[in-house]
Amino acid sequence: MRDLAALDRIRELLIPVLPEPTSDPGYLDLLGEKSPAGSPAQRLMRSGFLPRIYERFWRPALVGAMKGPLGPDTGQEEALVRTMLALGPADLVLDVACGPGNVTRALARDVDDDGLVVGIDASATMLARAVRDTPAGHIGYVRGDAVDLPFRPASFDAVSCLAALYLFDRPFEALAGMARVLRPGGRVALMTTRRLPLAGPVNDLAGALSGVRMFGDREVTGALARLGFSGVRQKTYGLMQFVSGRLT
Ligand SMILES: C[S@@+](CC[C@H](N)C(=O)[O-])C[C@H]1O[C@@H](n2cnc3c(N)ncnc32)[C@H](O)[C@@H]1O
Repeated sequence: MRDLAALDRIRELLIPVLPEPTSDPGYLDLLGEKSPAGSPAQRLMRSGFLPRIYERFWRPALVGAMKGPLGPDTGQEEALVRTMLALGPADLVLDVACGPGNVTRALARDVDDDGLVVGIDASATMLARAVRDTPAGHIGYVRGDAVDLPFRPASFDAVSCLAALYLFDRPFEALAGMARVLRPGGRVALMTTRRLPLAGPVNDLAGALSGVRMFGDREVTGALARLGFSGVRQKTYGLMQFVSGRLT
């Protein structure tokens, strides 16, 4: 996909920067040679290999194992997130840390050409895959830092961030950024890790093995409430939690 019309619409949502970001790779690149802080897990996301197997094999296996046997499969998870976001056809939607665009494309099914779905990720290899796998239309991608979102305040009707908050070096700043770019009444849907209650060593082992942050059951919901979200809801499955809310 090289849909310059979608990228032109995204340019209007960006905080102006000089020089203007290039769209040569098929997405707007705001990082160039720069990359956000890199844990081993984040460096893996930038490899050339992972994007090729991520959507079909890596995500279902790893995220599936963390959700546990009673957790939703990928299709059920997408349905849950689409319900949480309650998208309308003309909505502007931001998918934070979109990877190869798997969730971005699922959300775009609820939006038509009056709306726009923007995926942002720091990994050039993930975004190359996203561009390759996304048909032209109302979807476009940006290479930028999820912890320092490059969009104007109150730009979006809905924001999603799945399977990524636990990778960020400053996840609570990232949540504040998501609140900043949402319009009043805008919805957020998150899927991230959770610490199993009363299982300190299991949590520590899971965190150490995966290299990701494990969030307490009230950490993310509490942060959203403090940022001005109402109707904050949480569903937990194994080592994962889904959290949603509406900005007041
Ligand atoms: C596991 S993938 C998630 C992809 C997709 N959201 C999903 O649910 O399958 C995590 C993504 O987070 C991105 N990421 C990690 N830290 C980031 C940051 N600070 N800014 C932007 N993207 C980041 C990685 O490049 C990777 O593509």
